[in-house]
Amino acid sequence: MKEFELQVHVDGKPYPVEFSPENVRSGKSIQTYPDDVLIATFPKCGTTWVRHIICQLMLEDYDPRPGKELFVYSPMIECDGKEVIDRTPRPRILKSHMTYGDYPKNPVAKRILVVRNPKDTLVSSFKMASNAKWPNYAGLTFDIFFDLFMEGKYAYGCYFEYHKDWIDQLKEHDMLLLKYEDMVKDLKTATVQIGEFLGGRAAEIVENPEKLGDVVEASTFKSMKEDQSRWIEGFLKDQQQFVRKGTPRDWKNYLNKEQSDRVDQKFKEVFKGTMAANWWQEEMKWED
Ligand code: A3P
Repeated sequence: MKEFELQVHVDGKPYPVEFSPENVRSGKSIQTYPDDVLIATFPKCGTTWVRHIICQLMLEDYDPRPGKELFVYSPMIECDGKEVIDRTPRPRILKSHMTYGDYPKNPVAKRILVVRNPKDTLVSSFKMASNAKWPNYAGLTFDIFFDLFMEGKYAYGCYFEYHKDWIDQLKEHDMLLLKYEDMVKDLKTATVQIGEFLGGRAAEIVENPEKLGDVVEASTFKSMKEDQSRWIEGFLKDQQQFVRKGTPRDWKNYLNKEQSDRVDQKFKEVFKGTMAANWWQEEMKWED
């Protein structure tokens, strides 16, 4: 398994291979402003989806395309580093997968946490790792990846600790919590929730049925699956696989019962006594 633990370690934490330690470190110390929108997610929990919705709601000139992809409008703090973030025009829509401890703090900025159940997050991460042009991942099997993920050895470390830290903050801070699975069930309600939370132009758009309808239509799975070169640079072998399955419970096609039980056990241990203790019971149960 050692050969698959191919990550860049910065201050003891694993990041994707292509990240530079300088950018990760400078990203942690960026200056933030009250009009920033700070999006926090663990990888594969719906980051791209939420950023696409927010960009439509907030930015008049938003038009993602090859050469001016989503990440140009909404950069990633630890990947792009301080210089790029400092150059980004305000109001900024910033994304990061950093832990709560490392995430730049600003109590006045709009903070949004997007979460997704661990079993589907794990499978989505596996599909991305197998589809990435990263060296060493050619022989990666699901079973190997499962262990890497559960042991916190894949990029960004432990799913469970990440969520525990962020979820603990929800009690004390004014943050918007979005569950990926709720967005799948009712995209329109989630879009209204986002617009009302952001206020200003975003709130005006969601109050206008026609404009709201346009944003929802442009954010459906079907619509986002088209022209995927709008979202990312070409580090994937198959660009059409980034917006991939888009449903809860795809994990049933990958995890065996023992693996499923192992995730349930860890989930119970880590989230016991937190507001997440009973989340995703339907999405995570073994029975169909
Ligand atoms: P799957 O691989 O399970 O399909 P991130 O942007 O954080 O990397 O998350 C990627 C996941 O969000 C992928 O999950 C992707 O398909 C899903 N996704 C992206 N856009 C979506 C949409 N409009 N509707 C539903 N799921 C979407």
